[in-house]
Amino acid sequence: MAELHCHIEGAADPGLVCMLARRYGIDLGDIVRDDFYVWHDFSSFLAAYDRASTVFRSEEDFAELATDHLTRLASAGTLYAEFFISPDHAKLSGVAPEAYAAGLATGIARAREATGIEARMIVVGVRHLGVEAVERAARFAAGPGRRDITGFGLAGDERIGAHADFRKAFDIARDAGLGLTIHAGEVCGAESVRAAIDAVAPHRIGHGVRAIEDAALIAEIARRGIVLEVCPGSNLALGLYPDIASHPLKRLVAAGVKVTLGADDPPFFRTSLAAEYRLAAEAGIDAPGRLAFTRTAIEAAFVDETTRRRLIDRLMLAALSLGAPGTSQ
Ligand code: ADE
Ligand code: ZN
Repeated sequence: MAELHCHIEGAADPGLVCMLARRYGIDLGDIVRDDFYVWHDFSSFLAAYDRASTVFRSEEDFAELATDHLTRLASAGTLYAEFFISPDHAKLSGVAPEAYAAGLATGIARAREATGIEARMIVVGVRHLGVEAVERAARFAAGPGRRDITGFGLAGDERIGAHADFRKAFDIARDAGLGLTIHAGEVCGAESVRAAIDAVAPHRIGHGVRAIEDAALIAEIARRGIVLEVCPGSNLALGLYPDIASHPLKRLVAAGVKVTLGADDPPFFRTSLAAEYRLAAEAGIDAPGRLAFTRTAIEAAFVDETTRRRLIDRLMLAALSLGAPGTSQ
């Protein structure tokens, strides 16, 4: 497996979050109950996410978070993972962007050493914090010596601000040679995917599933080879679709769209990358189709070509040694 769409604070195990809250004397309110996050809609999910993020108070806390996340993925058979990092969230808990990214890079190095998993980071701006904050995040991502940061993206509440407002931020990132991805077509419809493509010409789109509502747009996404980072478990948890049979995953694939799978914010949505692959199977994607998701993820990864080649070789070896692709899809 390989994953391109996961928010690092959204991957924080509730047990780790509660332990750090106790250590620092932080009141989490009612966002964790019986070892699960509690929220009821997109807005309360974002609020719970923001509150849980405040427990990470040092470089070492972030190293631990990244190692925990990547070790979990590696033990499920994941070769490669990208995750979103948000300097604005770290700043809110008093950690400077440099220390935040350095801690996470240390976590990646530890997980790589222990398990062989490869990983990179994508800085995201948070759109509901405003254009200025997003441009600041882009300048941070574009700065010199940003170890393991290879992409820039936009997350947060899609209902706030127009995609075009963030053009400059994406230009800063593009000029620095970073890969570009943007959340769209999640809580908003196909028009938000069209607007995102027109405004920032991204390499990939976070979610994008609601593009299915516009046949001409789907044809264009397929023709341009724009990759969709699809997170079915997140979409079901947030109520975009009532069940996996109604989810557009299979129709996107049938339309020739390049698709990868991600868990988005796994414990918030009671999912994992392995569970996303199982959901895809339930949606009628066969084993070669699921293997193709992993291959697409590696082909669309924001990595240097040598790393990409090595990852493809590892994937082919894993698929061969398994005969039929199993846990290491
Ligand atoms: N930040 C964390 N998870 C997110 C999601 N699913 N959509 C938008 N912003 C997010
Ligand atoms: Zn996301």
